Parts: sequence; C-alpha cells; structure tokens
Amino acid sequence: MASNSNILHLIFILLPLLCTFPGSSESHSSSKQNLLVLQVQKDSSTGLHWAYFHKRTPLVQLPVLIDLNGKFLWLNCDTNYSSSTYEAPFCHSTQCSIADAHYCRTCSSASGPGCHNNTCALISLNPVTRQTGIGELAQDVLAINQVTATRARSHAFKSKLGPLITVPQFLFACAPSFLLQNQNGLPKNLRGVAGLGPSPIALPTQLASHFGLQSKFFICLSSYPYANSTGTVLFGDLPNNLLPGFDVSRDLVDTPLIITPLGEYFIKLTSIKVNKLSVPVSLSPISKHTLGEAMITDSFLPKSVVFFLSSIGAGALKYPKMHSFGYRANALLTFAVIILALMCAMASLSDNLSSPSPSAQVQVLKINWFQKQPNGNEEVGMTLNVSSDLQSLFTWNTKQVFVFLAAEYETLKNSLNQISLWDGIIPSKEHAKFSIHTSNKYRFIDQGSNLRGKEFNLTLHWHVMPKTGKMFANKLVMPGYRLPEEYK
Ligand SMILES: *[C@@H]1O[C@H](CO)[C@@H](O)[C@H](O)[C@H]1NC(C)=O
Ligand SMILES: *[C@@H]1O[C@H](CO)[C@@H](O)[C@H](O)[C@H]1NC(C)=O
Ligand SMILES: *[C@@H]1O[C@H](CO)[C@@H](O)[C@H](O)[C@H]1NC(C)=O
Ligand SMILES: *[C@@H]1O[C@H](CO)[C@@H](O)[C@H](O)[C@H]1NC(C)=O
Ligand SMILES: *[C@@H]1O[C@H](CO)[C@@H](O)[C@H](O)[C@H]1NC(C)=O
Ligand SMILES: *[C@@H]1O[C@H](CO)[C@@H](O)[C@H](O)[C@H]1NC(C)=O
Repeated sequence: MASNSNILHLIFILLPLLCTFPGSSESHSSSKQNLLVLQVQKDSSTGLHWAYFHKRTPLVQLPVLIDLNGKFLWLNCDTNYSSSTYEAPFCHSTQCSIADAHYCRTCSSASGPGCHNNTCALISLNPVTRQTGIGELAQDVLAINQVTATRARSHAFKSKLGPLITVPQFLFACAPSFLLQNQNGLPKNLRGVAGLGPSPIALPTQLASHFGLQSKFFICLSSYPYANSTGTVLFGDLPNNLLPGFDVSRDLVDTPLIITPLGEYFIKLTSIKVNKLSVPVSLSPISKHTLGEAMITDSFLPKSVVFFLSSIGAGALKYPKMHSFGYRANALLTFAVIILALMCAMASLSDNLSSPSPSAQVQVLKINWFQKQPNGNEEVGMTLNVSSDLQSLFTWNTKQVFVFLAAEYETLKNSLNQISLWDGIIPSKEHAKFSIHTSNKYRFIDQGSNLRGKEFNLTLHWHVMPKTGKMFANKLVMPGYRLPEEYK
C-alpha cells in the first residue's frame, strides 16, 4: 500500500457561510498560508460543480468541470488557443513518463495546440457523456489563488482570497473538441474537465509537487441548491484556526478517502441512516473491517453525491438544522445514490471476474526501407499484417477498446524502447475481429544506430474503456522478430 501521506481527506463543511471567502477584515498582520483555493460554482440546471481556471499567457479564465476521480486536467484547445507558453512534450520524454503516456501520436490537421506529430497521447474522458477521445499531452501556465490569512483581534485567522500564483509548466491534455460538442447535461460553455484523482498529473498532485504542499485537498460544497452559493476546493494544509471561533479538528468531521489499488477513491461505509434511523442493510463485506465499501462511481460531483458522502460515518457528521421535508427528501436521495453506487461497484467487480482471452498474430510482410538519416537516427518502414480477435474483451460493460501495436526492443541505454507502429479504436464487438494489411502508421525511428540485426518484440496493447468502473489495460507480447543486418 502507498504511504499514508498520500491519503487525501475530504471535508464537508455543511455550513455554507464558511465556504465563501470574505473580501476584507480588520487586519493587524498578515501571513501567507500554504493553502491554495479554487472557488467552485454549482451549475443550477445540471447540479454539477465547476470552477474558473486561469490558464495560458496572457491568462484567460476557462470554465472547467470538477471530476473527483479524473486523472488530469483536459481542455478543448482546438479553438481560439493562443498562448506564448504552450508546449507539447515529445513522446518518450520525461513529461510523458510522468504522465504515464507511452504512445506517440500524429496529427493530420493543421499544426497547432493539440495537433503535433511525435507528442504523447492521453485518453481523455468526459465523465458525464462517458465519451473518450485521444488528445495530446501539453504544458502551459496555470494560475491559482492563494489563501491569505489575516490575524484578527480575536487572535484567530481570517482567510481571504489571495493573489494568483503560477505553475509555469502545468501538464494537461489538449483533448479533441467533440468531447464537449454535446453540451446536453453539461454546464454551458464548458471548456474542459479537471481531475482530482490519485494520479501523477492530477491537479492536487501537480500543485503539491510544485509548491511543496502536503498532498491533501479539502472539498467544501454548499448544501444549498442556489446557483449563487459557491464552494471551494482547498489544496495544502488547512490551519486549525483558519476561521475565527471555529476549530477545524473539533467542529468538522472529515471523511477520509481510501485509494484503492486500482487508483480510485473509495470511502468506508459503516452504516446507512435515513432520517436518523439506521437502515438494516446487509452489505456483503468486501473487507473484514468494514460493512462494505462503496465506490464513488459517478466521479463528477452531482448534488446527490454531496448528500451521499455526508451521510456516511454513522451519524458522526453534524447536520445543520433543515426543514424536515427537505431533510427527508435528501435522505431518500442519499439512499438511492448509495444503492446505485453499490450496484455500479458490483457491476465493475463482476466485470473483473470474466477473464478475456484475446489473440493476435502479426506478420512483417516486407521491410520497405531501412535507412540511416543524416542526423544519425535510423528509420525502418515496414508492411504488416495484423490479425486479431479481441471479441472476448467486449462485455455488456465495454464502451470501446483502444488498441495499439508497439515494437519493443532493448538497447544498451534503455532496457525498454517502445515505438508505437499502429493504433485504432474498436467501437464494438463486431469490429473486434479484424485482419489488416498496413504499413506502419507511425514512424519507426531509433535515436541512435541500434537497429541493424536487432531482435524485437511486437506487443499488442489494449485499453478497455468500460461504461462504468475503471479503465483497464493489458497486452499480448509476440516475441522473435528481427530487423535486417543491412540498410536498404
Ligand atoms: C473564438 O474567438 C472568436 C473571436 O474572438 C469568438 O467570436 C468565438 O466565440 C470564440 N470561440 C470560442 C469557442 O471561444
Ligand atoms: C504529421 O506527419 C504527417 C505525415 O508525416 C503529415 O502529413 C502531417 O502534416 C504532420 N502533421 C503535423 C501537425 O505536422
Ligand atoms: C442566493 O439565492 C437565494 C435564492 O435565489 C436567495 O434567497 C439568497 O439570498 C441568495 N444569496 C446571496 C448571498 O445572494
Ligand atoms: C481484478 O483484476 C485485477 C487486475 O487484473 C486483479 O489484480 C484482481 O485480482 C482482480 N480481482 C478479482 C476479484 O478478480
Ligand atoms: C494475414 O494474416 C492472416 C492470419 O494469419 C491470414 O489469414 C491472411 O491471409 C494474411 N494476409 C496477408 C495479406 O498475408
Ligand atoms: C520480448 O519478449 C520476451 C518473451 O516474452 C521477453 O523475455 C523479453 O524481455 C522481451 N523483450 C523486450 C525488449 O521487451
């Protein structure tokens, strides 16, 4: 298991007043806090939470959806992207390894942000429509507000929105615009999705590593369904005396998020109460120490999830006094959401039980050319016959499968060189059995002259994108290929 410092805490402050940042206060001295803040707004028509992100040079404000289990920030940058600091790291670069993006992409449209050759591909997910698209790993400026604390007369701190500070090379994905084209069910004019997930280039991870903050974030959402009541996401250390007369450690109960081996947040479910009465449920115990574990499947934050999370913890959370009708309605909603979440969790578990057995054969029909380039690199062009049967990867829960064929070989410098030669997206089971005759779609270039007589493996990798649950990947290694001894 990962170290405890990686455990993130989710705090629900159910008193909406605490979620807003006052503009001024009687100040005697002020000090900087290791705390960053994103002000979150709730879209009144969809109930989803979004925030303005400050990006690019010069800075612009972009409305972005907040996705609790998302892996990174992705933005639609096909239209109107103008920034003097945009860069797309080359494939196999350090940034690509950090982002766990190991395949190279090409782009046939006009070159620009989101469209370059030999950059690395990232699969972006729209958590509302469940559509996925392949984009480019990019880096550009991101700015976020600091929280400044002011020491007030009461010796407690008053917090207010501080200045913007920047991360110059924030990693994100430039995703294709079709992911946001269908705006149904999404807040209007949305430009992307920000992931808070436990993954290497998610927003909390990058902020923590760039500013040396603790790897923690806190979500504070208003419990009132008014469009004008804002919430916040805080990154870093939450000082105990942030607000006057309010002790975070005493007055708030936090719900720790458990990070599963699959890299998703779970919370421990110990009991379910509806209107303060325990609901006799027998949840099949997944772990001996808990009654059950519920996955936060719909990882964007609809309003129901707020209540869902806040009802967990065996009545330890203090509810603000609500009108009983509203209270009951919310409790019912909570119950429905828990059942839904458990069903989704069970669905993705059952998915895991079937063990797929895909098959693939690849023949190198012809080496079309094999040359040393003027810069000393070597390039091979080949014709391949790729036959594969991936039908067993398709279950009722499979949305689509992303597949790519890579040449893998060892050199003195690197124990694994991986060059993507071909890729495709398989939309359905009917298309999952195929045989194609193709030249390599992506260039097979070695940065050096290692290829003559080189033995290599051809590996078919697949990423299965489920309708619900975690994307999973696997591969099939086909060893024993060899390149010619001579250039041609
Ligand atoms: C792009 O910029 C043009 C002109 O500045 C503007 O009319 C258009 O609405 C912008 N498009 C988007 C998607 O922001
Ligand atoms: C990428 O390479 C292909 C073929 O080599 C070329 O047609 C295309 O214009 C290039 N794209 C960009 C964005 O440079
Ligand atoms: C927010 O909207 C609600 C209902 O429209 C209203 O009662 C409340 O006063 C508003 N709050 C603020 C701070 O404007
Ligand atoms: C689910 O799949 C993962 C990865 O393939 C494996 O480690 C795990 O044991 C599987 N769980 C079950 C219940 O089959
Ligand atoms: C490609 O491979 C498949 C299966 O191995 C074979 O049936 C097919 O004839 C091959 N096609 C070519 C053009 O060699
Ligand atoms: C190629 O495949 C063989 C057999 O699976 C494996 O032992 C070897 O390490 C692989 N080579 C590379 C470079 O991945």
